[in-house]
Amino acid sequence: METVLSGIRPTGNLHLGNYYGAVQSFVKMQNEYNCYFFIADWHSLTTHPKPEDIQKSARTILAEYIACGIDPEKATIYIQSDVHETLELYLYLNMNCYLGELERVTTFKEKARKQPENVNAGLLTYPTLMAADILQHRAAKVPVGKDQEQNMEMARKCARRFNYIYGVDFFPEPQNFYFGDNAIKVPGLDGSGKMGKSEGNCIYLFEDEKTIRKKVMKAVTDSGPTEPNSEKPEVIKNLFTLMEIASTKDTYDYFDEKWNDCSIRYGDMKKQLAEDIVKTIAPIRERIIEISSDEARLDRIARLGAEKARESAAKTLNEVRKIIGFRPY
Ligand code: TYM
Repeated sequence: METVLSGIRPTGNLHLGNYYGAVQSFVKMQNEYNCYFFIADWHSLTTHPKPEDIQKSARTILAEYIACGIDPEKATIYIQSDVHETLELYLYLNMNCYLGELERVTTFKEKARKQPENVNAGLLTYPTLMAADILQHRAAKVPVGKDQEQNMEMARKCARRFNYIYGVDFFPEPQNFYFGDNAIKVPGLDGSGKMGKSEGNCIYLFEDEKTIRKKVMKAVTDSGPTEPNSEKPEVIKNLFTLMEIASTKDTYDYFDEKWNDCSIRYGDMKKQLAEDIVKTIAPIRERIIEISSDEARLDRIARLGAEKARESAAKTLNEVRKIIGFRPY
């Protein structure tokens, strides 16, 4: 059975971008693959979170993962920092990665621009830690949104290079995986390209119906089309993309037609969109509330997940150590 792995940074709560871009695929994949879904708490260190928030944040995502339908009996759910084998592989991979290629990664360039006072080495080597996450389980498929494509390219490069340097065929090249035809990019409600925690334009899975309706009704639009069949400007395209992701095809087509014959009323469209989002989120929200209160259960799940993930990672690392020339564990 093929191995699948994916992760999310615990810097806040899950939002629609995480859900449609990744978690929805996790839920579908757990029935068919050997799945590892983890919480990337080491990755979140690039922004220096407070010590008292670290475990709390991981637990929040753990509860939300389960509320979305990830089943700890089917998939291995674990917290990254519970599996220290990852760090050993991270070190080996870093030895074969070059400054120039890491500096060229767009997410690094963006972060360096946004937080010029904190361009740390962890930020630079973020893609190699991600590669270690994936390669330690020799995962073949990685369900991620479009925003992770470049990091995935680096992970493939790490696998290829390791195999080449040591003349082995050990690491499979991990492939991006999405359920539809294309990678999903969930746009923000502010007209910007991407829904994201650091963009402050999210709808969160824990939010109640009233808040969701209010947020969607406030989504940025324009004064409407003036010519039939005209091209949609960026902000409107984003609203339609959201609808394409969250609503049925019939609903999308209905409003698309209204756009084309210039009779569209954005208020109606947003109302419909809000209802469709609420329909998806409301049951998840209820489960989040229920699951979050059972700390003992969450601890049990995390402990079990860590055990399984460490077993798999140790097996890989044992081989890696032999290939590089070290004594096996
Ligand atoms: P993160 O925490 O930013 O996002 C988690 C997942 O959600 C997807 N996502 C989106 N998809 C579509 N549209 C959006 N607006 C949107 N926002 C977020 C992301 O593509 C991702 O799949 N580096 C990763 C975490 C990570 C990881 C890994 C992922 C660490 N190691 C190994 C896969 C494999 C990150 O920061 O994701």
